[in-house]
Amino acid sequence: MKGVVLAGGTGSRLYPLTRVTNKHLLPVGRYPMIFHPLMRLRRAGITEIGIVTSPEHMGDVVNLLGSGSRMGLDLTYRVQDEPGGIAQALSLCQNFVQNEPFVVVLGDNVLGADIGHEVEAFKAQIASGEGGARVLLKKVHDPERYGVPEFDGDRILRVIEKPAVPPSSFSVVGIYFYDASVFDFIDDLKPSERGELEISDVSNMYADKGTLSHGILTSWWGDAGTFDGLEEAGKLARDLFYEELGNEGAR
Ligand code: DAU
Repeated sequence: MKGVVLAGGTGSRLYPLTRVTNKHLLPVGRYPMIFHPLMRLRRAGITEIGIVTSPEHMGDVVNLLGSGSRMGLDLTYRVQDEPGGIAQALSLCQNFVQNEPFVVVLGDNVLGADIGHEVEAFKAQIASGEGGARVLLKKVHDPERYGVPEFDGDRILRVIEKPAVPPSSFSVVGIYFYDASVFDFIDDLKPSERGELEISDVSNMYADKGTLSHGILTSWWGDAGTFDGLEEAGKLARDLFYEELGNEGAR
């Protein structure tokens, strides 16, 4: 299975830290933020990875990671000219993933545990012939900051992006599993009020078809895209991956 890491956007919630550098290059523990999604994919056996970032920062990202060979990865890069939303960034990877199921990790998501069992769960979903998508949920105290699932029994009815009144206390974390029909769904998306193609709307298209499954994360998880999130992730992930990577640069 291939992986995609989305590392575009403006990082405006972290200004001025992100005025001249990309959010995903800021330190989280001993490594640049983007190492975290890359290493979680690698540990799940996913080494063929597409990275999407902005034209302003592509040079720095490539300078850091190169071909990926020093991390045991095979990296492909895509430029997102304007920050048109997570789903728009994802659409740029269609030629890269072709017609295969794949996994997407948002570049600012930091996880305390591996996701190999979730990759296996999605492979089983695909093998059963029903296709579809899978999202991961985490119980949080501030769901209004995230995409929030509304349940009908054990099934996700829909996902509401940053709701004023959250319908549950779960967040949809930034790890998504899709079959290749996701690209047709994205083609049909309309921009939200903030002018972005929203990943929660993609989840809703699968939910409407009854093919959206979910798993629950029990390990810690952080979205390092705000200052509080960055600080917390930095503490929790302080020594993550050091045994594997040491002080080596990526390239
Ligand atoms: O962290 C989980 C949350 O991530 C989910 O619960 C939400 O449903 C989802 O919309 C997203 O919310 P955020 O407000 O945290 O998204 P953000 O704008 O910070 O973008 C997350 C990552 O996606 C970012 O690190 C880079 C990538 N991105 C984002 C945009 C808007 C792109 O590559 N291109 C973009 O245009």
